[in-house]
Amino acid sequence: MPKIKSVNVGLIGAGRIGSFHGQSIARRLVDAELVAIADPAPGAAAKLAEALGVDAAYAEVSELLAHPGLDAVVIATPARCHTNVLVQAAEAGKAIFCEKPMALTLEDADRAIAAARSARVPLQVGFNRRWDQAFAEGRAAIDAGKIGAPQLIRSLTRDPGPFGADPDRIPQWTIFYETLIHDFDTLLWLNPGAKPVEVFAMADALLRPEAKEKGFLDTAVVNIRFDNGSVAVAEANFSALYGYDIRGEVFGSGGMVTMGDVRRSSMTLFDKDGVSNDTWRRDTDHFVQGYTAQLAAFVDAVRNGELKDAPTGVDARNALMIALASIESVSKNQPVLLS
Ligand SMILES: NC(=O)c1ccc[n+]([C@@H]2O[C@H](COP(=O)([O-])OP(=O)(O)OC[C@H]3O[C@@H](n4cnc5c(N)ncnc54)[C@H](O)[C@@H]3O)[C@@H](O)[C@H]2O)c1
Repeated sequence: MPKIKSVNVGLIGAGRIGSFHGQSIARRLVDAELVAIADPAPGAAAKLAEALGVDAAYAEVSELLAHPGLDAVVIATPARCHTNVLVQAAEAGKAIFCEKPMALTLEDADRAIAAARSARVPLQVGFNRRWDQAFAEGRAAIDAGKIGAPQLIRSLTRDPGPFGADPDRIPQWTIFYETLIHDFDTLLWLNPGAKPVEVFAMADALLRPEAKEKGFLDTAVVNIRFDNGSVAVAEANFSALYGYDIRGEVFGSGGMVTMGDVRRSSMTLFDKDGVSNDTWRRDTDHFVQGYTAQLAAFVDAVRNGELKDAPTGVDARNALMIALASIESVSKNQPVLLS
């Protein structure tokens, strides 16, 4: 049997999640090869390249895009750089996997979508929750009509505590742009075809109250009304002391699905202190299967020339619309209608 040609992938951004995606491509995917890494931070690309046995390390994105035989890129730079790097990659004719958020404004989202369309390259966005087994099975049950029409929908992100980051280094509105953006996509995806019509958000700095006046927020709840009558809640907090807690729930006219479990496994310890379970502590442990599956699907899309059941640039724009409405709602302290 002829061996399938590997898809040659370049990684742009060798930070926390980029390093993990680099490992997934190099070690967990059988039909893709990590051929080059780019990062402007001195030594960052070379260090990761050495660890993963990759020959090419660049400081400039343009150098990586000129790497011979490159088919596709994975963009894992800070959020503010995503759109420009994405457009550059599309203009170079490369298939694109972009971490969320794809853009921070609707104008940039449109620019990214247009660039990928005009270059006719696949564009997939990193909404990895869709690939988690529980969430995928929840969506399949909804599609099969097992819970009837969705009425109440819920998605939450509680990052593992204790919160140790410097609030001054976290860009304003990160809780909406980078954290709850996952929940907004999940709510849209679990409510197929429905459009959000109204958003009301509340947010606060409960972990670092002194940072609130500089715009830092670590806790938020967003209520969303959809045009099919369903109502959703997204919530986030930056410090769950018991672990990395990601859950979803859809209650419908005929039943309910729940998704997500903070417990690491079904192993339960019974000892002198009682009954206990260990919990997930990092996204890269909890979602290792989902993160790998989303990249495997992307590699298939590169080979076939189109995405199949994967989050697109338009999905990223739809989630961003709710993030922007949430920001407006918090700023004005009132509900925001979406046209
Ligand atoms: N899907 C998820 O679950 C998930 C998890 C974590 C992070 N993310 C997203 O991934 C992105 C990166 O997050 P992170 O935590 O890895 O950040 P990070 O700061 O650890 O890494 C970013 C890296 O990009 C590099 N960089 C900056 N500008 C660049 C450019 N123009 N070209 C190439 N490299 C550049 C930096 O030097 C740094 O090494 C963010 O948008 C974040 O929201 C997604």
